[in-house]
Amino acid sequence: MAIQNFVRNGCALFLRPQWQVVFFISCCLHFAVSQIRYSIPEELTKGSLIGNVAQDLGLDLKRLRAGRARIVTGDSTQYAELKTDKGILVVSERIDREKLCGDITPCSFSFEIILENPIELHQVTVEIIDVNDNYPVFEKKKINFEISELASLGSSFALESAFDLDVELNSLQNYILTKNDFFVLKQYSNPDGSRFVEIVLDKALDRETHPHLSLKLIAVDGGNPQRSGSVNIDVTVLDANDNAPQFNQTVYRASVIENAPKGTYITTVNATDADSGSNGHIMFSFADLKEHWRDIFSVHENTGLVSVLGNVDFEKDKRFEIRVRATDQGGLTSTSKLVIEVVDVNDNAPIINLMSLSSPVSEDALPGTTIAVLNIKDLDSGTNGQVTCFIDRNIPINIKTSLSNYYNLITDAFLDRETQSEYNITVIATDSGSPALTSSTTLRLKVSDVNDNEPVFEQKSYSAYIPENNPLGFSICNVKARDLDWSQNSRVSYFLIDAHIVGAPISSYVSINSENGLLQAVRSFDYEQIKQLNLVIKAQDGGSPPLSSNVSMTIIIQDQNDNAPQVLYPVQSGGSVVAEIVSRSADVGYLVTKVVAVDVDSGQNAWLSYKLQKATDRALFEVGLQNGEIRTVRQVTDKDAVKQRLAVVVEDNGQPSRSATVNVNVALADSFPEVLSEFTDFTHDKEYNDNLTFYLVLALAVVSFLFIVSIIAILSVKCYRWRRERMFYKSGANLPVIPIARVSALTPVNQVRAS
Ligand SMILES: *[C@@H]1O[C@H](CO)[C@@H](O)[C@H](O)[C@H]1NC(C)=O
Ligand SMILES: *[C@@H]1O[C@H](CO)[C@@H](O)[C@H](O)[C@H]1NC(C)=O
Repeated sequence: MAIQNFVRNGCALFLRPQWQVVFFISCCLHFAVSQIRYSIPEELTKGSLIGNVAQDLGLDLKRLRAGRARIVTGDSTQYAELKTDKGILVVSERIDREKLCGDITPCSFSFEIILENPIELHQVTVEIIDVNDNYPVFEKKKINFEISELASLGSSFALESAFDLDVELNSLQNYILTKNDFFVLKQYSNPDGSRFVEIVLDKALDRETHPHLSLKLIAVDGGNPQRSGSVNIDVTVLDANDNAPQFNQTVYRASVIENAPKGTYITTVNATDADSGSNGHIMFSFADLKEHWRDIFSVHENTGLVSVLGNVDFEKDKRFEIRVRATDQGGLTSTSKLVIEVVDVNDNAPIINLMSLSSPVSEDALPGTTIAVLNIKDLDSGTNGQVTCFIDRNIPINIKTSLSNYYNLITDAFLDRETQSEYNITVIATDSGSPALTSSTTLRLKVSDVNDNEPVFEQKSYSAYIPENNPLGFSICNVKARDLDWSQNSRVSYFLIDAHIVGAPISSYVSINSENGLLQAVRSFDYEQIKQLNLVIKAQDGGSPPLSSNVSMTIIIQDQNDNAPQVLYPVQSGGSVVAEIVSRSADVGYLVTKVVAVDVDSGQNAWLSYKLQKATDRALFEVGLQNGEIRTVRQVTDKDAVKQRLAVVVEDNGQPSRSATVNVNVALADSFPEVLSEFTDFTHDKEYNDNLTFYLVLALAVVSFLFIVSIIAILSVKCYRWRRERMFYKSGANLPVIPIARVSALTPVNQVRAS
């Protein structure tokens, strides 16, 4: 207000503001008006001298007192007080320039000193000189920045300005940034003279090395002493995915036993990522895994634990080389190699393959004949795959290895189909693992037949009996021969070996059924002619060449009681009377005569016994049962008739028995004439008897003649036949038609004969 006043008056005199008194006197006012100026620093203590007004206005102290000099001011605050007793102005109130004027310069306040009687008005202006009593001040205590580590160089970040209430030199003059590697400070001046600052990125940030930066911005003023204020700048470096995961090994090596169960731990891969948060969150996986390996192993996405997922089979893969990949969530990856060696386990039994088998094998195959070739392998490796192979020892077959993995089955003796027609050969293959695995296979080898056995008759020789007078076709005997060979080689046929018995071929006596060996009679036998037949039977098999064997057979013809006894003595001469004469004086037991009889049968059938069948006097004679002797059994008496007639029956012992009866005449007489007279009744039969005798003789002669004739006829026929046969053989040897004879020699009988 004071300044306004004197600007209005237009005659202000400016003095250089200073601590010293500046005064100014107006001279153009119709009342005493003067103007004085003082200049004092702010913040003086109360009572500090501002100026000596009495002196500067040229007033003495009495006038001041008399004029009741006082300060008038429109403002409520009165910074100055007039000490009238000393004529000085002192500070009555603390003067803060900043409060009084803010940033207006220069800063002053004015008031009037008024005097009465006469009225005098003096304007006093007090200029307040700034004192550096204020610090530069930042509004915030702390400035936070979040800057990506990928922020480009030259990026600028504005900072808030500080302010200093002081003015001019005492006001804010400069900013200083604490020393750091990354930011530089840039200051700009506004047209109004204010400054603003920013920090500019000078070097790339790296969250991984310096995640946080603490800077300090200092603002300084130009006062003396200099004052400063500061603010902390916290820079948080934001992560960018600028780091790929890093495996801690370039190669991981591990091993796993084959057939390890699912979940078996193998190894753990590990990787780190310098980035933080999701940029540093690593996920593991297999990279470029072969199709068929995908189901075998798994890697845990987060922990990197590699474990068995499926079937680890050494026989398929002995070694796995897998790339493991680590991926952060920003998509950066890196890989490492994982080598897994599979440890073999003996999990494969040997495999036996039959390559060839020659079955059946002939029983005459030479020892050393190969009958089968086997291929035996084991999928395991090392000792687990080493195979030993053997077969049961108690068969005549051996196993030999030829090429590796190949085995031959070889006979080591002659085989005999008849003792063993087939072999079940069990081939056992064992590997050397622990525990060892074994497999086996059984081959069935058949032995084929060779005709190496001749037929063998069940008996060393045969004998059979046939009763005479048998019917034709009578079954005599059944011979049987066995042949150990098989099928055709064992089919036995039976033949009679040609021979002649009593001039007739054997075939005219008996025949044999070639199929079943049944021997039958082809004629009726007469024991009295042939008592026994000796023949040879041949059994021949159907092999090629055939084998045969002979057996001898005796057929014994059994006697039948087919002949009655024949009485030889006493001769029964028809009409003639033959009488035994017994003296009447003969003793008891006198041998009268003996009946002699024969029986052409034999044995029991020819065993004769004699019995008295009829007698004139049964009490007089007896017949010896065995010997046919007729003896007296008592003394002949005179009373006994001369003529005694006995009938003796001769009986054989056959079943049924046959008998003959003979009449014996006995004359009991002491002399022959007596006998004659007694036997005259016999003689008148004599003529008749003579005739009978004659006829008998005649008949005998005729029969004898016929007999001789027929004998001669038979002999000549036989002789003729014999000569013809001889002629045939002789001429046959010389004839050129032998081949035909040989062709016909194909029948077995002829063959034998030819050999
Ligand atoms: C061989 O085996 C077969 C079938 O198992 C059996 O029928 C036959 O009797 C056996 N042979 C021998 C000689 O053991
Ligand atoms: C069987 O007998 C016939 C005739 O005597 C003879 O030729 C043949 O060699 C004999 N065979 C045997 C196997 O003894």
